[in-house]
Amino acid sequence: MRGILLAGGSGTRLLPLTSVSSKQLLPVYDKPLIYYPLSVLMLAGMREILVISDGRHLDSFRHLLGDGERFGLDLRYAAQDSPRGIAEALLIGREFAGEEDVCLILGDNIFYGQGLPATLREAAGTVDGCTVFGYPVSDPERYGVAALDEDGRLLDIEEKPAEPRSNLAVTGLYMYSNDALICAEKISPSARGELEITDVNRMLVAEGRGRLVRLGRGTAWLDAGTHDSLLEASQYVQVLQKRQGLRIACLEETAYHMGYIGKEQLRALADGLSAGSDYGRHVRSLLRT
Ligand code: G1P
Repeated sequence: MRGILLAGGSGTRLLPLTSVSSKQLLPVYDKPLIYYPLSVLMLAGMREILVISDGRHLDSFRHLLGDGERFGLDLRYAAQDSPRGIAEALLIGREFAGEEDVCLILGDNIFYGQGLPATLREAAGTVDGCTVFGYPVSDPERYGVAALDEDGRLLDIEEKPAEPRSNLAVTGLYMYSNDALICAEKISPSARGELEITDVNRMLVAEGRGRLVRLGRGTAWLDAGTHDSLLEASQYVQVLQKRQGLRIACLEETAYHMGYIGKEQLRALADGLSAGSDYGRHVRSLLRT
């Protein structure tokens, strides 16, 4: 399975923060926002990843992450010239996907929790059609919302419904088997002028090829699309990291624990980070484990 990370969007809800910077480069406590979804793809087992962003910011992402080699990854980049919707990422990434299945993640979605990597790896190994991830929220009308039958099977997904049929939001993490990618070519722009990922997913659900995996209480799902949610995400990360002495979405650590890099590569990464930064000290401390 290959990963596609969509770090596009105009970021208008975050202006003026996003007047010269991409939203996904903004800080969430101690690291850029994009580290969080990138680490999720890595934990799900992906090493070949396409980063899609507004052409203006591609060089910044390249500068930050390079070709991925230092994290044991193969990172590629592609431009989305204007924000034509999430489903466009599947069109832009079609060639990159080749014959492989695809996991698409939105660049402003943060997932964290015990058991999440195992859940994602299981889902990645069994996808047929699409697999979406549902998370209970108090304001489902802001999201794609799942409708389920009595047995919990996925019946439909509705985008920002006025009267949600459940409290399960469909998160910004989607898995597709290779043959399902064709559906992205069949949809038309919605009333808001976007190629909706929900339309792709609905098509597959209608064919009986949609599966919903519930992310339970032990998992946090945050988005960082507004000033408040960006601050709240930072606070969440700060509290957990300080309390437990761990790091969320430390790419060096994830790469090492996933076996994508060995100790010598980790040492080189630690040497490249200042011992004056907490983040650098954390990466250094991993060499002693
Ligand atoms: C998008 C999707 C929506 C999903 C959400 C998750 O919404 O359209 O189905 O629930 O991401 O973050 P948007 O950010 O475009 O409003």
